This record gives sequence, structure tokens and C-alpha cells, in this order.
Amino acid sequence: MAMQGNDFSIENINQRLLQEFYDSYDEELEMELDDLRFGDGRKPEPGEKAWRKHYFRELLRLQGELVKLQEWVTRTGHRLVIIFEGRDAAGKGGVIKRITQRLNPRTCRVAALPAPNDRERTQWYFQRYIAHLPAAGEMVLFDRSWYNRAGVERVMGFCNEQEVEEFFRSVPEFEKMLTRSGIQIVKYWFSITDEEQELRFLSRIHDPLKQWKLSPMDLESRRRWEEYTEAKEEMLERTNIDEAPWWIVQGVDKKKARLNCISHLLRQIPYEDTEQKTITLPHRERHDEYRRNPV
Ligand code: ADP
Ligand code: AMP
Ligand code: MLT
Repeated sequence: MAMQGNDFSIENINQRLLQEFYDSYDEELEMELDDLRFGDGRKPEPGEKAWRKHYFRELLRLQGELVKLQEWVTRTGHRLVIIFEGRDAAGKGGVIKRITQRLNPRTCRVAALPAPNDRERTQWYFQRYIAHLPAAGEMVLFDRSWYNRAGVERVMGFCNEQEVEEFFRSVPEFEKMLTRSGIQIVKYWFSITDEEQELRFLSRIHDPLKQWKLSPMDLESRRRWEEYTEAKEEMLERTNIDEAPWWIVQGVDKKKARLNCISHLLRQIPYEDTEQKTITLPHRERHDEYRRNPV
């Protein structure tokens, strides 16, 4: 559609709002289509189309609720930590993307820390994570977290068993200290099956847009599936505290997992809807500056 910059008629404004809507819809669709690239290996099942529509609507509704949550968090100065753990390719990244999609990055941040550097390795284990904890009015989504010690670090041998024991001794105390200080901690474990992980790794290998997600660590984790299972079980058992229990998200059906996780998250927080203020857009002086330097 041609830009009719100086036409402020109702018809033109309506048309442009509609265009704006279609543009954002396209982006949405693009993100969802990404899931379909190389089909995830599956044929659409009967009813899939209706389900997609349902998913899409529900996701938008939940994202609307997240906006209300965000408003409440900033207004009340709440501090929220959400931890996403799970095996490689379990779908943590996908749900994190959809939670943050419509939120203000200053209110809702993601902490996805790389492997510790030489200096960090000499620090108290929790130290580098502390820098990312929320201040008032912030929510921080940890895409993997201090639980690395009980998972990848343990299974891959990046730490010794004494360090793992020390971690298990510390983590309940650590999280209790955080909650006593007023930080709310919500912990999710994304669960997938052996077959599903294999399928997702294969689709990553064959998709140039997904290959970056596949690390040498991921490949090794396939070999060590059983060790991961044991590590996971011990972790969930020893770090499940009343102040911050683990919630298991069934991740094989990605879309269901996203809806379940987001609606569960919303139920953990006593946000309430505040009335939308009526906002009127002030008129600006009209210049033709956007006509210069067209892209
Ligand atoms: P992701 O699954 O998040 O895409 P990787 O599979 O490469 O990333 O690594 C999994 C986790 O293991 C990451 O959180 C990373 O920081 C951690 N990790 C990787 N190498 C090491 C290491 N040498 N020591 C400690 N942690 C590591
Ligand atoms: P439908 O048969 O599409 O009308 O779907 C009815 C309900 O079944 C939906 O609302 C979903 O809860 C569920 N459903 C159907 N297909 C799927 C799917 N592929 N994944 C998850 N849930 C599904
Ligand atoms: C995802 O599906 O995004 C994963 O859980 C993150 C990963 O393993 O790379």
C-alpha cells in the first residue's frame, strides 16, 4: 500500500491501521511458520488446522495477560525470577521468546549466561548469577541458570562431585534467602522424550536457520541421556522447596507446552488488571522530514 503521509482522513487512517495489523500478523505467522520448517518431521494430523487457530488465539490472549502482568510488576515493584531448565532442545527458548515478545525489554529481561570464563570459575559459584537478579519492577527469565551445576556441569565433568554436593547444600539456602528478600522464584523443568530430542536435533542439523542451536554439548548430551536422567532426578528431588517448587512442563507438544507454561506462570502471580487509561495522541507539527532520505 502506498504511503499517503499527509492524508489524515478517517478512511486513510483506518486503512493504515489495518495495514499495521496485517504487518504484525505477518511477523507472528512467520514465527509460527518457523516451527513448520522441515515439518518437525510430522504430518499434520486431523484437526490440526483448527488446533493451530486455537493455539494462535490462545497465545495472543495469554500475551495480553502478560502485558497486564508487566504493568502490575512495574506498578508494585515486584521482583520476579523465572527459571527455565530442561534437556537440550526441550523448548525453553521457544517459550521464552513468546513470553518476551510483547513485553518491554527493560521490565522483562532474559539471562542466558555462557560458560563461565577463567575469572568467573574462581568466584563463589552463585556470584555471576547474582548480577542478573531483578531490581524492583523487573522480571528476569533465566534460560538455564545456577542449576547448570547439577546438570550439564556434573554430567560433562566440568566440576567435581564435592562441588555438586556443595551446590545441593547451598541452593535451598540460596533460594530461601532470595525469597525472604522478596524475590519470587518460579522454576520450570521442560521434559521431552528421547525420541523427540533426536527428532529435534535432526531437524536442527538439516536446517541452516537452526544449526546455530546445535552445540557440541548437545551432541554429547545424546550419548549421555541416561546420566542426564539420573542427574535430573536427583536435582528435582533435592532442590524442590516450598518457597520455590519445580513445575514440570510436558514439552513434546511444543505448542501445548507454551500455552500450559504461560498460563501456569500467570497463575503464580497475584497480578490484577488495572483499568486501561484512555490515551489521546497529541498532534505533532507536520514536517515533511520522512520524505527525505527514503530507504
Ligand atoms: P544451550 O543448550 O544453552 O544452547 P550449550 O548446549 O552449548 O548451550 O551449553 C549448555 C550449558 O552448558 C550452557 O548453559 C553453558 O553455559 C554450559 N556450559 C558449556 N560449557 C561449559 C563449561 N566448560 N563449564 C561450565 N558450563 C558450561
Ligand atoms: P480440533 O480437533 O482441532 O478441533 O481440536 C480439539 C482440541 O484437541 C484442541 O482444542 C486441542 O486442545 C486438541 N488438539 C488437537 N490437535 C492437537 C495437537 N496437534 N496438539 C495438541 N492438542 C491438539
Ligand atoms: C530450545 O528448544 O530452545 C532448547 O530448550 C534450548 C536448546 O537446547 O538449545
